[in-house]
Amino acid sequence: MKPQEASAERISTSENLRGVILAGGLGTRLHPLTKVTSKHLLPVGNEPMIFHCVKQLTSAGVTDILVVTNPEYVGDFVKVLGGGAEFGCEFTYRVQEEARGIAHALALAEGFAAGGKIVVLLGDNVFESPIRPAVADFLAQGEGARVMLKRVPDPARYGVAVLDGNRIVAIEEKPPHPKSDYAVVGVYFYDAAVFDIIRTVEPSARGEYEITAVNNVYLCRGMLDYSIVRGKWVDAGTFDALTEAHHILLERIPD
Ligand code: DAU
Repeated sequence: MKPQEASAERISTSENLRGVILAGGLGTRLHPLTKVTSKHLLPVGNEPMIFHCVKQLTSAGVTDILVVTNPEYVGDFVKVLGGGAEFGCEFTYRVQEEARGIAHALALAEGFAAGGKIVVLLGDNVFESPIRPAVADFLAQGEGARVMLKRVPDPARYGVAVLDGNRIVAIEEKPPHPKSDYAVVGVYFYDAAVFDIIRTVEPSARGEYEITAVNNVYLCRGMLDYSIVRGKWVDAGTFDALTEAHHILLERIPD
C-alpha cells in the first residue's frame, strides 16, 4: 500500500469508528503486582500492557480512543498515556467507580460514541496479529455487532460460542461444560444500539453486567457476526497468561 493510500484509509476509519479500551476492574488474580498499579500498566513485551491495545487501534486507523479505568489508577493511566500525541491518537478518560462488569464499564462510553459505531477492547487481551481485518469486516457489515472467536484448550475460562455449523446460536459465559472450544475474545464491535441493550441487561449470578448478555441480545436479533482471530491470543489476567503474553509480543514478527 502506498503511503498516501494508508493515510486515506486511516482518516476514513477514524471518522466511522471510535475505540474504547476497558481497563478497570481489580486485577486481584495478579496480586501483589496489582497492589501498586493497574494490571493494564504492567510490562508485557517491552511496554505497559495497554500500549498493545492502543497500537492495535491506531494501526487499524482508529484514533479517537476512550480509556475506562478505576478511580485508584486513573492518574497512572494519564501519566503513561497522556493526551495521545505520542501514539498519533486522542485519548478521552472515564472513571468506573465500581467494578460491576464489562457491560457496566462500556455504558460509560455512550457520550463518547456520539451515536456512532465503536470497537471495544478489553485492556488485558494480547494478540499476535493485527485486528485490522476484523475492523474492515465490521465497517463493511452495516448494522449490528461482531465478535471474534479463537479455538482454545480451556474454553471454560471464557465466553464460549455455541455453534451450529458456521452459525453462532448462543454464547455462554464461563460454562462448566463448554459446547465448543471457540472462546469469544475481548474485542467487540457495536453499532449505536448497544447502549439501549446494556440498559436492559440484569446482573448475572456473580453480580456483574456481562458483555455476553449484550452479545446474546444481538444474536437473538440476528445481528451478530464474527471473525476468527489469526495467530495467538491471550487474556493476560493470570500469572501464566501474563508470561505467555510477554513471549507473544517479544517473539512476534512485526507486520
Ligand atoms: O478475555 C476474554 C474474556 O473476557 C471473555 O471470553 C469473557 O466472555 C468476558 O466476560 C471476559 O472475561 P474475564 O473474566 O476475563 O473478564 P475480567 O473480569 O478479567 O475483565 C476483563 C477486562 O475488562 C479487564 O481487563 C478490565 C475490564 N473490566 C472488567 C470489569 C469486571 C472493566 O473495565 N470493568 C469491570 O467492571
